[in-house]
Amino acid sequence: MRVRVRLGASEAHDVIVGRGLLGDLGALVAQHAPAHRCVVIADDVVAAHYADDAMTALHGSGFEPTLLTFPAGEASKTREQWARLTDLMLDDGCGRDTTVVALGGGVTGDLAGFVAAAFMRGVPLVQVPTSLLAMVDAAIGGKTAVDVPAGKNLVGAFHAPAVVIVDPDLLRTLPTVELRQGLAEAVKHGAISDAAHLDWIEFAAGPLLSADADALDELVRFSIQTKARIVSDDPWERAERATLNAGHTIAHALERCTRFSIPHGDAVAIGLVVEAVAGEAAAITEPGTAQRLAAVLATVGLPTRPPAIPAASVLEATRSDKKGRGGTIRYSLLRRPGQAARAGDGGWTQALPDDSVAAALDSLAR
Ligand SMILES: NC(=O)c1ccc[n+]([C@@H]2O[C@H](COP(=O)([O-])OP(=O)(O)OC[C@H]3O[C@@H](n4cnc5c(N)ncnc54)[C@H](O)[C@@H]3O)[C@@H](O)[C@H]2O)c1
Ligand SMILES: [Zn+2]
Repeated sequence: MRVRVRLGASEAHDVIVGRGLLGDLGALVAQHAPAHRCVVIADDVVAAHYADDAMTALHGSGFEPTLLTFPAGEASKTREQWARLTDLMLDDGCGRDTTVVALGGGVTGDLAGFVAAAFMRGVPLVQVPTSLLAMVDAAIGGKTAVDVPAGKNLVGAFHAPAVVIVDPDLLRTLPTVELRQGLAEAVKHGAISDAAHLDWIEFAAGPLLSADADALDELVRFSIQTKARIVSDDPWERAERATLNAGHTIAHALERCTRFSIPHGDAVAIGLVVEAVAGEAAAITEPGTAQRLAAVLATVGLPTRPPAIPAASVLEATRSDKKGRGGTIRYSLLRRPGQAARAGDGGWTQALPDDSVAAALDSLAR
């Protein structure tokens, strides 16, 4: 499967999905991002699983690739690691004619993506996502960033990949807890765009959680088509791209309140339910929506109730979310399962009374 992603008038790239595609990496890089040099950036966990295959495939197409690794985990998504990687590329003699291959999860995609965005003022980037979250979300859309002491993802750049290569077979080694993080975003894709996809996730929950290759392949294809379509229609998040933030206003607040000890996907799952309950109370979201989402999320083992944090603290944390415009907190709400809610002003975000959000948090609290 090949999906075209348009990012603005002049930038477009393909997302190619297929089982076993890692073996074609060399040919695909040669075709979409030909360069004199090729640098593969991966965390140490992913490198242990897949660096040999990637390097062999690149050698097979005439590249002399260099492998650069860093310790796995969000703690590596820093300016320091970015500086280390760019310095290693300079030491290695890389110039403008270099392609960066980001082989890994969202941390690698964001970090290596930002390396590619800045190295020699920008060199081609090939995204090879290896986590479900990166396949269905992080690798698509051209956002790259590192975390800084003031917050996550605050320093970065838009840098569209030359191509995104998605090989669902790589998910066979992904731990279940990481698989669930991606499933939360996949449920979100169904929630904003297709009720039938929610039904299918519920139906296929068993195979999905046991990393059945066919089930994951189908899931990845649906989500990529959804994200690619929405991002293509609105690359700069002026309109419909905001629907991808469903559940995320509350999710980001919960992450902040727990000092990021709650995984992002878990926070999104809870956020989807909390925002649906609050949307129902505000007569924006059809009754029964929250219940339907909670049922689907529960079948794939995701939490649907917020941890015991005072509602006032969660509301306070929403105010430091970067989506706040002019002080009001905006939510990307649903009309019903499978359909995002359009606001009265034609936009895709709307304000909610604090009281209804607090009531939703309290009514769901564990
Ligand atoms: N740029 C964007 O638009 C965007 C969107 C969403 C999330 N993100 C970012 O993505 C990051 C989260 O991504 P993530 O959840 O993939 O984190 P991650 O990259 O840290 O991967 C999670 C863990 O899974 C391991 N892993 C990855 N693939 C594996 C595989 N195939 N087999 C075995 N282990 C594997 C990694 O080594 C890591 O330990 C966050 O930093 C977030 O900010 C970016
Ligand atoms: Zn998310």
